[in-house]
Amino acid sequence: MELMEAIGNRRSIRFFKPWKDVEDWKIQRMLQAARHASCQGNCGSTEAIVIDKKTYPADKFEELIQCASTFNEIQLRTAPIVIAWLVNMDAWYKELVESFSVLFPSRAITAAHGWTYKILTESTYPRLMSFPREKAEDLLRVEAGQAIANSLLAATELGLGCCLLATGRKPAEFPKVLGVPDNIVPLWIMAVGYAAETPGQRPRKRFDKLYHYNTYGNPLKEDQAVKEELIAENMIQPKDPLPGREEELRHVCRMFGYKEDMPDMPKDKIKALYEEDSIYYGEVPPGLEEKGV
Ligand SMILES: Cc1cc2nc3c(=O)[nH]c(=O)nc-3n(C[C@H](O)[C@H](O)[C@H](O)COP(=O)(O)O)c2cc1C
Repeated sequence: MELMEAIGNRRSIRFFKPWKDVEDWKIQRMLQAARHASCQGNCGSTEAIVIDKKTYPADKFEELIQCASTFNEIQLRTAPIVIAWLVNMDAWYKELVESFSVLFPSRAITAAHGWTYKILTESTYPRLMSFPREKAEDLLRVEAGQAIANSLLAATELGLGCCLLATGRKPAEFPKVLGVPDNIVPLWIMAVGYAAETPGQRPRKRFDKLYHYNTYGNPLKEDQAVKEELIAENMIQPKDPLPGREEELRHVCRMFGYKEDMPDMPKDKIKALYEEDSIYYGEVPPGLEEKGV
């Protein structure tokens, strides 16, 4: 699969085939992709625990489910693998000088950029070490985002489905359930498995509402020729709700014994989403008018 297509094919999957195991080598490839993401000073602060339901104690897994937001329970119960993504604060406060300095002999940076070992150790390092934990953690969350995004694309390329999951129900309990030391900050958990649903791409904010040219507020126009190319490359795909999406969801829910209702939303609020100046679609997807929206 080409990169652009993997970007286009990735979806958050919320129903998994619990009967279909994930091959170990696929998890390995996902983690290798994460490990090769860009990170400040080559710090390598993003770690992960791979939780394999085949070998993980069932009672401990129940404790983990209790930490996750209630709307994430189905994903956790059906996905065979759960990855807990973590930030290791020691990668900043204890190991950064070593991981940064490896950029010197590997010739990633040069004296032309103003780098000397003296500057690194006597100026850069003390400045970075003076950051309060909150600020360093904020920085390292960006690193984690990049690593997780790489793993999601690798998973997509391998035909796997994933969903990042919040653990807001018992935030204080979550690190204890994972059994991590104080220097480890658990971020998100991620359900990994084979999808039991085939959703379309989810709507995104309009290009010209997100991007600005030279000055903030001066919309950068979406180039239609580039958009057409990306459609041809399968990066930009038809957006949900695709025809038959509701029927698929009802059948999937029936198969698992879940309730089959769709979330309610007033029709005028749905209509507003599709109006021309909406930050979202600006176009009505097929099928909605038939439903009286
Ligand atoms: C950091 C992060 C946390 C998320 N947390 C949840 C979550 O707790 N539960 C969930 O169902 N989806 C979660 N998602 C998935 C988003 O809701 C999803 O990306 C969004 O609906 C767009 O859909 P797509 O990923 O299919 O493009 C999360 C995504 C990210 C990036």
